[in-house]
Amino acid sequence: MTRHTLRLAACLIGSVALVSTVVTQAIATTPGPDEHLRVVDGMPATPSDAPFAAYIDRNRGQGWCSGSLVAPQWVLTAAHCNASTVTVTLGHLEYAKGRTVQVTSRQESPNTDVLLLKLDQAVTDIAPVTLATTDPALGSSMTVLGWGKTSPTGQRSPVLRKATMTIAKPRPEKPGQQAPDATDNKGGAALVSDPGSGWIWQGDSGGPALIDGKLVGVASLSSQFSHQAWHSSVATNHAWITKIIKS
Ligand SMILES: *[C@@H]1O[C@H](CO)[C@@H](O)[C@H](O)[C@H]1NC(C)=O
Repeated sequence: MTRHTLRLAACLIGSVALVSTVVTQAIATTPGPDEHLRVVDGMPATPSDAPFAAYIDRNRGQGWCSGSLVAPQWVLTAAHCNASTVTVTLGHLEYAKGRTVQVTSRQESPNTDVLLLKLDQAVTDIAPVTLATTDPALGSSMTVLGWGKTSPTGQRSPVLRKATMTIAKPRPEKPGQQAPDATDNKGGAALVSDPGSGWIWQGDSGGPALIDGKLVGVASLSSQFSHQAWHSSVATNHAWITKIIKS
């Protein structure tokens, strides 16, 4: 298996070693033929694309993830983005210009790569994203966003980027291999997508996948080879998310 969690730690090997069985270390030492490609190849996001997008700092600059404001006091991200210290920055396409909010508690969805971060204050000037209640059909086009690396060995994007991806069945990563499961990094239900105008990579973890402005997925895994992505299903987690953010 060669899917990678998209979280970035300070060191790629460290990041890879921390995660579960779906990961190999190939990316760290053997850049593929697509090394020159930008990861979220797409393009910079505009302010109206995802005003609820949140940059997640892990352990004071040692790593980062992406996420979404889903209620005034809650940000949704990937469970594998959890760290000793997490802070949330939102309100600007350039995360360095956003405002940082402290996290007071965290809730992890059972058996799914989904984490809710409770903020120490309500964000009242940014509308939270609406959660999808049904999974998109095969062939649907979605927009994925994040501050992830712009090449497999590259740097984090200072600016939020977006790309389109298309809901698909998992494909073998290399000829002769079996197709991976349609499950996220923790075995939860996942939406699988083919690359479109780009694909997601480390640091995009936890970031939004949107269809018609609704949050359908939370970035969990990506294949270096097929460039397919696995997003935890928001519809499957809808009841759990709603219960927590109302509590
Ligand atoms: C997140 O990480 C912290 C620090 O390692 C840990 O105490 C906590 O149990 C983890 N999970 C959640 C849901 O907070």
